[in-house]
Amino acid sequence: MNGFHVKSFPKRVWNRWSLLVKFFFGLIVGIILASQLQSLLISSSACVSYKLSPVHRKLKVNNIQERTEVEARNRQLLLVGVMTADKYIGTRAKAVYETWGSQVPGKLLFFTSDSQNTTDDLPVVRLKGVDDSYPPQKKSFMMLKYMYENYGDKFEWFMRADDDVFIKTERLEIFLKNINSSQPRFIGQAGKGIAQEFGLLSLEYDENYCMGGPGMIFSHVTLSRVAPNVKDCLKNLYTTHEDVELGRCVQRFAGIPCTWSYEMQNIFHHSSSGRTAFTGPLKSREVHRAITLHPIKEHAHMYRLNNFLQGVSIREKIYDGLKIRREMANSVEQLRKRLGPSWEQQQDSIQLESLGKKKKKSKNLLCLAPSLNKFLPEDESDILTWNFLARSVDSTETVNPRRAIDAPLREGVEDVIREVMEGINAMSKERGRVIDFKELLYGYYRLNPRLGVDYILDLLLVYKKYRGRKMIFPVRRHAYLQQAFGSLQLRPSPLVARDSSTSRIHFILPLSGRLAIFQRFMNNFQRVCVEPDERVRLVIVLYPTMETNDPSDEIKSFVGAFQRRTKGRQVEVELIERKEAFARAAALETGKSSCQPDDDCLLAFIDVDMVFTEKTLDRIRSHTIRGRQVYFPIVFSQFDPSFGAPLTGSSDTEIADDVFEIDDDRGYWRFYGFGIVSVYRSDLERVGGMNTSIHGWGQEDVDLYDRTVACPDLAVFRAPDPDLVHVFHPIACDDSKLTEKQKKMCVGTRAGTYASQQRLARYWIEHHAYG
Ligand SMILES: *[C@@H]1O[C@H](CO)[C@@H](O)[C@H](O)[C@H]1NC(C)=O
Ligand SMILES: *[C@@H]1O[C@H](CO)[C@@H](O)[C@H](O)[C@H]1NC(C)=O
Ligand SMILES: *[C@@H]1O[C@H](CO)[C@@H](O)[C@H](O)[C@H]1NC(C)=O
Repeated sequence: MNGFHVKSFPKRVWNRWSLLVKFFFGLIVGIILASQLQSLLISSSACVSYKLSPVHRKLKVNNIQERTEVEARNRQLLLVGVMTADKYIGTRAKAVYETWGSQVPGKLLFFTSDSQNTTDDLPVVRLKGVDDSYPPQKKSFMMLKYMYENYGDKFEWFMRADDDVFIKTERLEIFLKNINSSQPRFIGQAGKGIAQEFGLLSLEYDENYCMGGPGMIFSHVTLSRVAPNVKDCLKNLYTTHEDVELGRCVQRFAGIPCTWSYEMQNIFHHSSSGRTAFTGPLKSREVHRAITLHPIKEHAHMYRLNNFLQGVSIREKIYDGLKIRREMANSVEQLRKRLGPSWEQQQDSIQLESLGKKKKKSKNLLCLAPSLNKFLPEDESDILTWNFLARSVDSTETVNPRRAIDAPLREGVEDVIREVMEGINAMSKERGRVIDFKELLYGYYRLNPRLGVDYILDLLLVYKKYRGRKMIFPVRRHAYLQQAFGSLQLRPSPLVARDSSTSRIHFILPLSGRLAIFQRFMNNFQRVCVEPDERVRLVIVLYPTMETNDPSDEIKSFVGAFQRRTKGRQVEVELIERKEAFARAAALETGKSSCQPDDDCLLAFIDVDMVFTEKTLDRIRSHTIRGRQVYFPIVFSQFDPSFGAPLTGSSDTEIADDVFEIDDDRGYWRFYGFGIVSVYRSDLERVGGMNTSIHGWGQEDVDLYDRTVACPDLAVFRAPDPDLVHVFHPIACDDSKLTEKQKKMCVGTRAGTYASQQRLARYWIEHHAYG
C-alpha cells in the first residue's frame, strides 16, 4: 500500500475528488498494485546482478502448520482415485493424466471396470466385479475399499474424483497441509439435494453429503472408519445417487457430515452450465478462486484450462521475481546510504548494472516501488497524457478523440479490477466481511511503454459485513494502480526452417500492361537478385491488356534482354504468355506449374508495385517451412506522396532513395492484405491451390489465406516486413466499364490512400479545403 500525491493532475479530477470525499466513507485509499501483462513491450535485464549475496530476501511463507505427528511424516500427502469408464480411458482419463494428474502431491490412480483385459499406458486399476454402468455406486465404494486395503497407511488424504474435474494441485496441497489429517474429516461441497428431491434423499434435516462432481476428500481416519464397512453400505442404498449414499455411509460409520463451510462452494466449484462449462472465457472469479473445477465434458478443454492456468502461474512467478528484484534494489540503495564513501570500494564486489547514479535514463524503473511518479518527464514532450475512461474512451492520443473501449483495454481493466478485488478481499475471513465489485464509475489510464500502464479507477463496491452487526452498503473507492511490464521474453520458435538459406525462391509475378512500373520492378530485381546472383527465379505471367496500345511486345523484349544477361547464372527469368482475360488466381496457378513436376519449390507471389531488398529474400526463406508454415508478410503501403506538402516519392520508373523509410505519414501497414505469400508448392496443393474460378483482382488472396488458416497441419506466420513496400500508384476511377457501385468503391479506396488521417487533418487546418 502506498499513498502519494499527483502534481500535474487534470483539474476536473480534483473537482470530482472533492465531491467524493463527502460520500460514504470519505476515505480515499490508494492502492498500488503492480502486476504484469503477458505482452511484454520493453526489454530490461535483471535490475541488479551481484556477486556477493548481501541482500536479505524475504521468502514467501505459507501458513503451513507445524506437522509434528510421526504418523503424518511417514505418509505421503494425497492419493487421488479418479473414477472413469473404459470408453473414457483414451480421452478424459488421458487428458487428466497429461494435465493436473501428473502434478498430484502423492499418487493418482484411475478406477474402471474389469470388463476389458487391455494393458494401459495409464495407472489404471480394474475393479473386480465392477462394471461401467451408471450410477457408479459400486465402483465408488469398491474404489474406497481398494484404496484403503492397498494404501490405507501410506497417505494422509484420499480423494474421490471424477474424470471430468480439473484440480489445481498446488493449491490443493497448500489447502490440505493446513488441516490435521489425524482427525475425521470429510471435505467437499456440501449438498442437500435440489428442491425437487427434497425429502426424497432420506436425509435428516442436519444431514448432508459431499457433491461428487467437484470431488470429495477423506482424511485417513475417515477412510479407516468407512472402508471396512462399504459392503454394509452397499446393501443399504436408499437412492441411486452415488454421492448421497457415500455421504450417508460416512455419516453412519465416521459420524461426520460433509464440511458445512460456506467457502467450500467456491473452493470445490461446480458450474451449472453443463456441457458449456469452462468452454468460454476463463478469466473469471470462479475459475480464479476455485481449487477444483467441474465439469469439463470435452477432454480438449481440459488441456485448454491447463494452459490457461499455467499462464496465470507463470505471470504470478514473474511478479514474484519482480518483487524480489525490487527488494534487492531497495537493499542496495540502503547499503549505499549506510556505507557512504566506502560504497565506491564495494563496487567491484557488488555489481550495479542499472541502479547507476550516473545516467538517469539508464535507471531501471521497474525496480522501483510502484508509484505514479516513478517516471519523471525530462521535458514537455515526455509528459504522458491521461485518457479518460467511462462508457467510452476520451483521449488526445488518437485521431478520434472519443471512441469505444476496445476489447484489449476492456480485458486489461477487468484484469486489474479482479486483482484489486482479490487484494481487498484477501483478509475477508479474518475481518468478517466481503466486498464485491459492482461497477467502474469512471477512470483514467495512461501508457508508458517503458513501464507499463497506470490506472486511477473510481470503483463502486458493495460492502457486506457478516460478522457482528450484519450490514450491507455501497462504497466508492479510488484505486491507484500500476500494471508493470515485465522484461522481454524471447522464445525460440519451434518452427525454424533448417538449411533454407540457399533455397531457390520462385517469384511469380502476374502482369498485364503497366510497362513503366514493370521496368521499375525489374530495376529493383536487377539490384537485389541479378547483381548478387541470388538463387532466385522470376516467373512473369503476362496477360494482354485488351487495349489498343497494349505494351506486351515491349515487355517481352525487355524480358528478353534480361534473359540474355542472366544466361548461365543462378538467377533466372522466365516469361509465360497467356492470351485470355487477366485473372490473378489463374496467373499464380500457371506460375506454379512452371517449376519441375518433381520439384517442391518455394513459391513467392509478388506484385509489380512491390519493391523489396535482399532481407526480404532471407525472411521468405526462413519463415516458410515445408509442411509446417506458410508466410504471409504484412507489407507497408505508401500514401500518395504528392498530397499536400509533398514528400519525395517514387516515379513510375525510378525508386526513390527513401522508399524504405517507414512512418505514419508515409503509409500504413496492410494488416488486411494477403496478396504477398510464400509457400511450398506441396503446401499450396495441400490447401487446394488457388481458386481459379475467381476472376480479376481481389478475393483470391483472402480465399487462400482462409483455407491456409483452416488447414490443421499448417501454421500461418504473419509479421510486418519493413523491406517490402507497396509503392503508391494513382488509382483511376473514371473507367467507363465500372458500374456505379464499383465506381463508388473505387473512389473510397482512392480516398483511403491519399494520406494519413493526421496529414489530412493538418491539411484541412492549413487550407480549410482539399483542392
Ligand atoms: C481377463 O483375463 C483373465 C485372466 O487372464 C481371465 O480370467 C478373464 O476371463 C479375462 N476377461 C476378459 C473379459 O477377457
Ligand atoms: C491432530 O489431531 C490429533 C488427533 O486429534 C492430535 O492428537 C494432534 O495433536 C493434532 N495435531 C495438531 C498439530 O494439532
Ligand atoms: C471458389 O470461389 C468461388 C467464388 O468465390 C466459390 O463460389 C467457390 O466455392 C470456391 N471454390 C472453392 C473450391 O473454394
